Amino acid sequence: MDYSAMIQNRKSVREFQDTKVPECTLDKIKQYYDSDSKKLVPSIHTELRFFGCGTREKLMGAAGYHDFMIGNADYFILLSDNADFMIENAGFLAEDLILHMTEWNLGSCWLTFEDGEKIKKALAIESDKCVVAIVAFGFEKKSSKRIYLNIKSMSKIDIDIKRGYYSPHLGINGMVFSGKWGNQAGVDEEIGDMDSPLWQAFYAASLSPSYLNCQPYGFVLDGDAVVLISKSDACTDEKDQKLNLGIVMLHFSGVAAQMTGKITWNLGSYEKDLGLPPMCKAVAYCRL
Ligand SMILES: Cc1cc2nc3c(=O)[nH]c(=O)nc-3n(C[C@H](O)[C@H](O)[C@H](O)COP(=O)(O)O)c2cc1C
Repeated sequence: MDYSAMIQNRKSVREFQDTKVPECTLDKIKQYYDSDSKKLVPSIHTELRFFGCGTREKLMGAAGYHDFMIGNADYFILLSDNADFMIENAGFLAEDLILHMTEWNLGSCWLTFEDGEKIKKALAIESDKCVVAIVAFGFEKKSSKRIYLNIKSMSKIDIDIKRGYYSPHLGINGMVFSGKWGNQAGVDEEIGDMDSPLWQAFYAASLSPSYLNCQPYGFVLDGDAVVLISKSDACTDEKDQKLNLGIVMLHFSGVAAQMTGKITWNLGSYEKDLGLPPMCKAVAYCRL
């Protein structure tokens, strides 16, 4: 599977056709999940559950941006054992499913939620595991117009219709630094041009979906280490930020690994001083 292509094909889809996703496609997703899906922390046990018709109504008020629930869809919910890094692991794993769904012509959209127990109650889920990710998916409604979310804050989301709209994402320039946070000198030389594996991996990271499209993270290059930095931001809570981080790690390593071999993320702090300002924290690193 070509992660660069899947990542460039993905976007949040919020309007779906009435056609239900066929059982054989759900089986394909499940089969991929059971056998080949990428895990950040393989020791954490997770469970994938599908929910169909009528789920949108049940999730209203429990999931989705304030006052805005996306169209009728199928949903998958990821349940996880309670463990350190279970949310980052969920972001990584669920985004891997989302990317593969683009290969099976399915559009999708992450859904935020505050209270996992409320979700379990709404969907009558009986499980000791925690709800860690919710994703809506289905066949995109074909239209030259697309719902445009003008996201100002969680409680201020204007819904508009625009033609051929794509959410603007961070550029590599604002996201990758060399040696110290904020230092852009030498970055171009270190990551190379558009044909270089490292450039492509950072480009993939820059296309990551994030809560309210805030992308509150960046990277510092330190020799052969790529250090992921989490930025605290006023509108992203801890759970959504951990999902964001899992997602961006998958985008980076999915592409980097295709060209340089397996990439393993080490989760937790980084020992060296990277000149980080108070709202920034090193949360993971990998070696190339
Ligand atoms: C953790 C997380 C939660 C999200 N929650 C919602 C949501 O509840 N409703 C929604 O419409 N989009 C949601 N999104 C999608 C983002 O708004 C979207 O990824 C972002 O605007 C960038 O657009 P793109 O995915 O088309 O690149 C969420 C994304 C993430 C990563």
